[in-house]
Amino acid sequence: MVETMRFGWSEEEVERAAGLLRQGEVVAFPTETVYGLGANAFDRSAVDKIFQAKGRPSDNPLIVHIADMADVEKLVERVPAHARRLMEHFWPGPLTLVLPAKASIPANVTAGLDTVGVRMPDHETALGLIQAAGVPLAAPSANRSGRPSPTAADHVLEDLAGRIAGVVDGGPSSVGVESTVLDCTGDVPMILRPGSVTAEMLRDVIGEVSTDPALAGQGAPRSPGVKYTHYAPKGEMHLVQGARAVDVIEELAMKAIRAGLRVGILTTAEGEGQYQTLVQAAERVYVLPVGRRSDLSTVATGLYDAIRAFDRYDADVIYAETFPETGTGVAIMNRLRKAAGHRVIAAD
Ligand code: TXA
Ligand code: MG
Repeated sequence: MVETMRFGWSEEEVERAAGLLRQGEVVAFPTETVYGLGANAFDRSAVDKIFQAKGRPSDNPLIVHIADMADVEKLVERVPAHARRLMEHFWPGPLTLVLPAKASIPANVTAGLDTVGVRMPDHETALGLIQAAGVPLAAPSANRSGRPSPTAADHVLEDLAGRIAGVVDGGPSSVGVESTVLDCTGDVPMILRPGSVTAEMLRDVIGEVSTDPALAGQGAPRSPGVKYTHYAPKGEMHLVQGARAVDVIEELAMKAIRAGLRVGILTTAEGEGQYQTLVQAAERVYVLPVGRRSDLSTVATGLYDAIRAFDRYDADVIYAETFPETGTGVAIMNRLRKAAGHRVIAAD
């Protein structure tokens, strides 16, 4: 056990956190997507501490975070023209580019692959910390492996207090789901993990973009991290999809409540009122609106906090509404399916 220091985002405190990083410690920091758990990407033993603190499988590579475009050259062998255009267009921002790795990158960063994921976060505190540390930071999401990614410093401490040297508190993450991971090593770039930079947005800049067929359930995922159970709340989550979703959720919830279970329902600001009768009829039900259906980016922002809230409520079972799989909805449904262990109930 170590004492985990909590830092604010003033320049002085960020400098102190950077000092820990320079000494080979691991420090969690805010980004626009989720909080990351950072270590000097060129310090193999510091990077090892990330895997230990998270309980992360060693075959899952880390994303390297930079604050300066010029740092790309320290990490990758070459930058294909389409990748260069994407950097210019989307960085700083929630887009990770997988590129041919320099041999000097420690093997635990890349999990032994010959590629490395690189991104420049769109977050002042993150950029300030990377600059102050003076090195690129390898950083996965700052959660215990298998838990939802943290979108607040408190989430980080929930999972990692006593296991990491520090956390820089930069307030809640604005995007809320992890970056889009795009493999740029082939002729046609391929989305390995959907995020708020959507396929349409990428196509607008570089034309053709493909999607890993594994995301639609075909074959093994190309991104090692994508195959692991993820984001899971402690209660058993089910997605309820179809025109009769609200009715079916009500029926299932009533049944579960009668069986003595504590029930969570994931809905939106627009849907909350539809469960009023249920809430009046029963205790042991927690109806949680996450964002607004009319603006899916607000759903993404609140999603992981909602999943953690069901844990705090001790929900035994959670029924979740679903979202259209376009734009940011692709990333939301990707995370929800995993959180639900791919349990989907049809409600047509
Ligand atoms: O938004 C984000 O990406 C956050 C913040 C902290 O930047 N980070 C994050 O890291 O989500 P992590 O480790 O939780 O997820 C990284 C994902 C994993 O699925 C991993 O397998 C994949 O990116 N990845 C990393 N390097 C890769 C590579 N060289 N080839 C293929 N996939 C890679
Ligand atoms: Mg993660």
